[in-house]
Amino acid sequence: MKSQIYNQAKYYEIAFSFIDAKKQGDLFEKFIKKYSKTDVKSVLDLACGTALQLREMAKRGYESIGLDASMKMLDYLKSESKKEELKVETLRADINKFKLTRKVDFAYIMMGSIIYVKNNELFLSHLNSVADSLNNGGLYLIENLAINWADPSFFKPQHWIMKEGKIKVKTTYQIIPKNPLKQTVTQILKMEVDDNGKKMEFIDKDDLKIIFPEELKLLVDKNSKFELVGFFERNDAKLLKNVSPDNIVLLRKK
Ligand SMILES: C[S@@+](CC[C@H](N)C(=O)[O-])C[C@H]1O[C@@H](n2cnc3c(N)ncnc32)[C@H](O)[C@@H]1O
Repeated sequence: MKSQIYNQAKYYEIAFSFIDAKKQGDLFEKFIKKYSKTDVKSVLDLACGTALQLREMAKRGYESIGLDASMKMLDYLKSESKKEELKVETLRADINKFKLTRKVDFAYIMMGSIIYVKNNELFLSHLNSVADSLNNGGLYLIENLAINWADPSFFKPQHWIMKEGKIKVKTTYQIIPKNPLKQTVTQILKMEVDDNGKKMEFIDKDDLKIIFPEELKLLVDKNSKFELVGFFERNDAKLLKNVSPDNIVLLRKK
């Protein structure tokens, strides 16, 4: 795929190594316990990247499948899983339209990656693909980007630095409103890498569409294969009450 960032799996993983996969695995299990209507033995990570969460689920004994468009990400996931002695299957596919060879019991898409489904038509196609991949009663968890158009600070760039050994990655992430009528934003992701003194820069700039909660409800209704369980806080399985960067959408296959 045409991405500078997602072709740099190792640096990407360092940049996002603040992810607490154990905590996220606990959260998945909380949702499963409370809302799944099927026993969960297998999981699907959509737009999995290097898939810290999937590796955590594999550690916990779930049959684990990671799907991504980037071969570099999947190769990295394969080699890390091998090192960690974990059984993880990988599938190179497009989240907009894909087909698994067998169904799973729980599916999720993390870190706002649902934004790579670029319009409502594709969102309906995406839901069809997820529905065809899930057993009845299984959950689909979407960690959505919660855009607060009313708060200008939301659109300021965020910077952070993460290190592993002698590799330092400075990441910049920014969302800039592009066309509020079309709900589009420009997403900028930049990694400035210092790898043992070798300096490199990678940047992705994409025009993407935000999906709002009320719109999502209608699309889920139109698709008709899921029921909406609710919108939840990101750190707990509690229903969302106010606007916040937390935004987990939970769907259940009918
Ligand atoms: C922000 S990363 C998220 C990675 C991982 N889920 C995480 O939480 O760290 C987004 C991922 O989406 C993948 N991606 C982007 N567009 C895609 C598409 N149309 N189909 C499949 N994967 C896609 C990229 O290759 C990248 O690995």
